[in-house]
Order: sequence, then structure tokens, then C-alpha cells
Amino acid sequence: LLFVIFACFSINGDGSRFNQEADPIKRSDFPPGFLFGAATSAYQVEGAYLEDGKSLSNWDEFCHSKGCGENDDNGDVADDHYHLFMEDIEMMHSVGLKAYRFSISWTRILPRGRFGEVNPLGIMFYNKIIDNLILKGIEPFVTIHHNDLPQELEEKYGSWLDPQMQDDFVHFAETCFKSFGDRVKYWMTINEPNVVAQMAYEKGEFPPNHCSQPFGNCLAGNSDIEPLFAMHNMLLAHGKAAKLYHDNFQAKQGGMVGLVANCFMFEPLTDSYLDQKAAERAMLFNIGWSFDPPIFGDYPQEMREYHGNELPRFSLEEKSFMKNSIDFIGINHYSALYAKDCTNSSCTEGANRAITGFVEITGERNGVPIGDPTSMERFFVVPRGMEEIVHYVKTRYNNTPMFITENGYSSPNVDDVEVEEIVNDLKRIEFHQAYLASLCKAIRKGADVRGYFVWSLMDNYEWTHGYNVRFGLHYVDLKTFDRIPKLSARWYQEFLKNNSLVD
Ligand code: NOJ
Repeated sequence: LLFVIFACFSINGDGSRFNQEADPIKRSDFPPGFLFGAATSAYQVEGAYLEDGKSLSNWDEFCHSKGCGENDDNGDVADDHYHLFMEDIEMMHSVGLKAYRFSISWTRILPRGRFGEVNPLGIMFYNKIIDNLILKGIEPFVTIHHNDLPQELEEKYGSWLDPQMQDDFVHFAETCFKSFGDRVKYWMTINEPNVVAQMAYEKGEFPPNHCSQPFGNCLAGNSDIEPLFAMHNMLLAHGKAAKLYHDNFQAKQGGMVGLVANCFMFEPLTDSYLDQKAAERAMLFNIGWSFDPPIFGDYPQEMREYHGNELPRFSLEEKSFMKNSIDFIGINHYSALYAKDCTNSSCTEGANRAITGFVEITGERNGVPIGDPTSMERFFVVPRGMEEIVHYVKTRYNNTPMFITENGYSSPNVDDVEVEEIVNDLKRIEFHQAYLASLCKAIRKGADVRGYFVWSLMDNYEWTHGYNVRFGLHYVDLKTFDRIPKLSARWYQEFLKNNSLVD
């Protein structure tokens, strides 16, 4: 313990190691059982979108009909992980990963949702992945639902806008628990429901592409209340599936169930009282929205104050099964951002609404970005955010066990960038070192964080940004599907052996 404390103290004040004096963070700065891994999701890497009985998902349909992503990229072939998973597991092993987070494609397992049979070839595919991970000593972390769902359910009743979808999800989750739960000990029900609610029903960027004024270029919806309903159904779907696991599977299978949310850290734009309050609201309208129901059994009171009756209510029975329905909190953390009050100052159209808590989110203060920019509009390199977000979650949720289920870096896009430049990714190494140093500080202060997953194992399909945004430790040649380790993969490998590659 003394060594951990010493090592954590030797990092720079802001958690970065850009200062030459600072020692790089080491594997041994973390507890011995801490799990280091990498993450992917089915639609982003698998490809084989119509093979072996798989049906069309909402993302297949969305990308085929509307053309999604830059250059009309889509996940039809993606990284061809469906055929190359054995090589990919070998690659994980050679980096020395102790855990791998991936998701199950709903349409591979249940092509017609709960209205049809289980597809044995889909089950076989994930069995092979799980068995081979375990053979290599890699712990499988399974996200049951990560954005892609059967298009049939979208067409039947509008997926997450309809409460019936809760039963579809529970059926899917039960199929997963039954088929894989003898070997999978870490389940995450739904990935980033807070992002899906906003991107699919407020901003219109994810299927089913709903939004309304003040946003354009999307199908009509009601962007003030649809996100609230979609989220409510996703949270209840989580709660019901978690209850099923806790009641019927946990005693025998001995695993844990978590929920993963996108967790930005919000800081006040100025030190005015109103901006400080705005930052608090931004935390509640994102983190609280996601984790208060599965931990406390209801939404934050502050959300009710802003939304009134538009915020759906949990019945007494629902409150009781929602409460304590997670065994761990999954934190996807990339960036800190500023929050500006909109109750008393002028904000851009769209920010000035109950759905945002009357908060405008921005990455700049007086024209100065909060951290180095990346290829993602809202992701800046702000290492201190990691310590702060973990501290926030620890404090609000009484130190419920946490995993950093995603953290990663994608450099600003440059046209015609050479492969040599992409694989020589010193910035990504600096990013992970700085964020890990910051995480280490939070752990030293008592946060029960049990693992860390790099997003991502390899470059992949980044939703509406397509393939030009690259978060991977490995470069993927999209013609040959060769995987080329970036320098960061070598850094991770050395880090996991407690050596340092870059000083
Ligand atoms: C969060 C999502 O879970 C993942 O699918 C996405 O690729 C990364 N963030 C990067 O944006």
C-alpha cells in the first residue's frame, strides 16, 4: 500500500506526465487484482451482417437506407471480427489483456426478438469467443445491448419508445444468462442509455433518427419528451433483467450485473453561483439520470423539478425492483466539459430547454479549449476529469464497485494520413498514462474501482463518424483486414508487465 501511495503522489498535480520529471504510471500502482482490458461492440467490429441466420438490426437498416457515417460508411463488414475473432483473441493475449469487454449482437442470437427462435449459430459464435478468451486467461465482460437491436422491433412498435420493449430485452438477457452465464461473470445490461436517448430521440443522429425543433434533418419526433420515455424504458428493461439475474441465476452462476453510462465530468464555465449550479445540474441530468434509478429507485428530485409530469414515474413495484439493481457501475469516461447556466443568460437554441436542465455544454472558455482537442467534437484531453468523475460517482453512490468500462483517445482527423503516422501514436500513450495516473489518485483516496478498459482493442466503425475516427490500440487495414499493433499496443503490453516503454 505504501508503494501505491508513493507512486500515486509522484504524478503531476493534474495527473498528466507531460512533465519530464514525473515517473510514468505503472501497473504496480494499481491493486494486484485490478483488471486491465480493452473493449469493442458487436456492430462496430463484427461485420457479417447477414451471415449464419443473423437478421437486420436497426443500424443495418439505418445505414443502408439513409447512409450513415462519413463517406456513407457502415458496419456491414467492419473489422470482419466475425471471421477473425481467433486472431483477435490471440492479439489480446499477446498484449497481455486480463479482460475483454464486447457486446452480443441481438439479431445474431434472436433474429426475430422474442417473436422467433434462438439462432444456434449465433450462440455458437459467442460460445467460441467466450471459451477461447477463458482458455487464454482473459475474463469476458459482456454488454448485452450496445446500440444494435432487431429492426423488426423498431417497425413493430418503435423499440424503446414502447414499454413492450422491456420484455423483449428481458427475453434477450435471459437467453444470454442461460447460454453463457456458466462462464460469464460480468454482465452489463445496456451501454450508454443516456447517449442513445439523446442521439436517437433528441438529436436524430442514431436510429430511429427522431428529433424535432430546434434540430433538423431527422424524422419528426418530440425531442422534449421522447428521450425521457426511451430512457425510462431502457432503465426498466435493465431493472427487470437484473432482477431476473439476481433472483434466478446469481446464486448458481455467481456473477455481477452492471449498467454502463457515458460519464462526462462537468465543470462550471465561470465561478458564478449560477454556473456552479448549472454544472451540478449537468451531472444530475446525465449521471443521476442514469444511475439514481438503478441505485436509489427513482430519478433525481432536481430532474422532477425541471420536467414536472413529463418525466415518467416509476410505480411502487418498479421502484422496489429498480432499487439496488446493479452490482457495479460502468463508467465510460472520455472528457470534462464546461456547463453554462441558461436560466439567466442567453444560450444557443436547444440548450435552453428542460431536457438539458437549462444548461449549455461547451468545450471552451473564452475561446480556450478545456484540453487538447481530439477527433470527437466533445472529447477533449482533460486527465483530471477521471479522478473527478470517479470521486463524484463514489460519493453519490456510496462507493458502489466501479469499472472504467471505456476510456480512449482518437487524434484529430487529418486528410491522407499515412499508416506509419497512425501507428506511431505517442499521443494515445500520453493520454492513457495521464488518465491512469488520475484514476490512480482516485483509487488511492478509497474509490472502489476494479478495472479499466481501453476503448478500443482496434480501430472500428465509430457510428456516425465512420472509420476515420480511430480509437484503437491496433490499426485495421480495411482492405486486407490485417491488424497492425500501434505503439500504444506495445506500450500497454509493457505497462501490463510493469515495464515502461516511453520515459
Ligand atoms: C462510447 C460507445 O460506447 C462506443 O460505442 C463508442 O465507440 C465510444 N464511446 C467512442 O465514441
